[in-house]
Amino acid sequence: MNKIRITNIPLILFLTLTAALSLSLQACAYEDDDDDEGGFSRLLPVRVDFRPADDPQYLEECGACHLAYPPGMLPAASWHRIMAGLDDHFGENAELDAQTTRHITDYLTANAADRSPIGRAPHVARSLGVDAPLRFTETRYFLRKHHEIPPRLVLDNPDVGSFSRCEACHVGAERGNYDEHQVRIPGVGRWDD
Ligand code: HEC
Ligand code: HEC
Repeated sequence: MNKIRITNIPLILFLTLTAALSLSLQACAYEDDDDDEGGFSRLLPVRVDFRPADDPQYLEECGACHLAYPPGMLPAASWHRIMAGLDDHFGENAELDAQTTRHITDYLTANAADRSPIGRAPHVARSLGVDAPLRFTETRYFLRKHHEIPPRLVLDNPDVGSFSRCEACHVGAERGNYDEHQVRIPGVGRWDD
């Protein structure tokens, strides 16, 4: 009995330490203090603000007209509303067959802002409360982050045209990186405020 306990101590110590270390690294990588001027998270090789979408069917069907938006950008209730109204989707018909609709709805809701611990997702969910908007770009969270950008740099800019085109300015959008220090507005260049 005694012998077993003693030989196991180094292993237990090792496991506890690795678990604690990886937890604290994750906590730093996913931190979202609103005025992040850098901090430890920026020293890590990959910063994830919104975990990029990775479901093949979702990428194919919902990435056809625009960026396949990260599921953590909106709460589950929003995704339900969006998926229930695809026949009139912002003026377009984006309807899918029932099986694909169900699969994509399950994927989006399982990884939604109010179900995901990753990156900014929990912050977006908290800021929304019970609201279920159809657009992230109309949320207070988004408007607060983008209020310093003059609309002419977006709407009158042929290379952008809409705030919904995240990847036009956020060069790391495909990797889930929306770091304010890595923004390049087409025709304007690096954003420095
Ligand atoms: C036929 C083209 C088309 C397809 C396919 C399509 N969308 Fe869209 N989507 C649009 C348009 C157009 C807009 C409005 C963009 C704008 O205002 O610039 C939009 C906007 C959105 C927005 C709001 C973005 C914002 O402003 O925050 C979400 C969310 C969205 N789509 C989700 C989806 C999902 C989920 C699917 C797959 C089921 C999908 N879209 C498939 C055309 C499409
Ligand atoms: C016209 C260019 C442009 C578009 C389009 C755009 N953004 Fe941004 N975004 C910016 C700029 C510039 C900032 C930094 C603002 C500041 O520092 O005042 C920013 C900041 C952010 C931040 C905060 C980053 C930080 O480090 O605090 C997030 C999150 C974000 N954007 C997400 C998005 C998402 C998601 C989309 C698409 C739905 C989007 N943005 C579309 C230009 C854009």
